[in-house]
Amino acid sequence: MKQFLSAHDVFDIDALVATGLAYKADRFRDKGLGAGRRIGLLFLNPSLRTRLSTQVAAQHLGMEAIVFNVGAEGWALEFADGAVMNGSTVEHVKDAAPILGQYFDILALRTFPSLQDRAADYSERTLNAFVRYSGIPVVSLESATLHPLQSLTDVLTITETFKEQRKPRVVLTWAPHVKPLPQCVANSFAQWMTAWGAADFVVTHPEGYALKEEFITGATLTSSQDEALEGADYVYVKNWSAYEDYGKMPPASGNWMLTLDKLKATNNAGVMHCLPVRRNVELSDEVLDSPHSLVTQQAANRVWAAQAVLSEILKQA
Ligand code: CP
Repeated sequence: MKQFLSAHDVFDIDALVATGLAYKADRFRDKGLGAGRRIGLLFLNPSLRTRLSTQVAAQHLGMEAIVFNVGAEGWALEFADGAVMNGSTVEHVKDAAPILGQYFDILALRTFPSLQDRAADYSERTLNAFVRYSGIPVVSLESATLHPLQSLTDVLTITETFKEQRKPRVVLTWAPHVKPLPQCVANSFAQWMTAWGAADFVVTHPEGYALKEEFITGATLTSSQDEALEGADYVYVKNWSAYEDYGKMPPASGNWMLTLDKLKATNNAGVMHCLPVRRNVELSDEVLDSPHSLVTQQAANRVWAAQAVLSEILKQA
């Protein structure tokens, strides 16, 4: 693996999941693989799980991890070609990224979308600039449109918990929120579910919240959450803002917050969420605190997903 920006960078998802689960069984099995190598973790936006799990994963491989909160502590970066930098930006990515490519063996980056300019966000301008100018393998720690480390974790969590000899029914359901959120987690989960192909995948959301077509091709779509939940083995709960009326929050009719009562229609479903979660807005206390909830196991698995990805890149570097 030369980079990890989306499901398209993975040749065999099941094999990568198996690598992650092997690390879960024996975290130090490749403890010398990263010796003498260094990863730079650049955050333009906040994080708890992604930041810490990737550092822990690097340590398990004997690799040094350096975190830089570039969004809060770095120079304001310019991305536009030909910019006359007489405004607020101080350093062009063309100058910053090649230096990072000298300091590190792998560069990992978190960069959220603006939710103001769909074309700019969906061009992944920031992530792609670091790919283009750093000259070293880049790992997405969540970009403007995707969150592949989260999605690999999600597939790993379903793989390790599903015990039946059939495809699981996996439902991605929109949930309410107090402010507009990116589509990244939903886009990415949908992309990985369809690329994986080992689940019957259903997406449900209110009118106005359709995801970009390329991510949901192959999924079953319904605007009825009740219909979607029928017989579900997993319910992945996530809010996202509108893709069509970009970044907006069209009013959603009905109650979309998942409750224990709604879960009665499922096959005793496991409930997933990437976290952080707004309790009693996105997901009820009664669900999060019930045996249905997989969120802690899911978040803990972030380490093994990150370790699998870093090890694959280190093996090819
Ligand atoms: N799920 C996730 O990416 O968590 P953080 O934003 O805390 O990293």
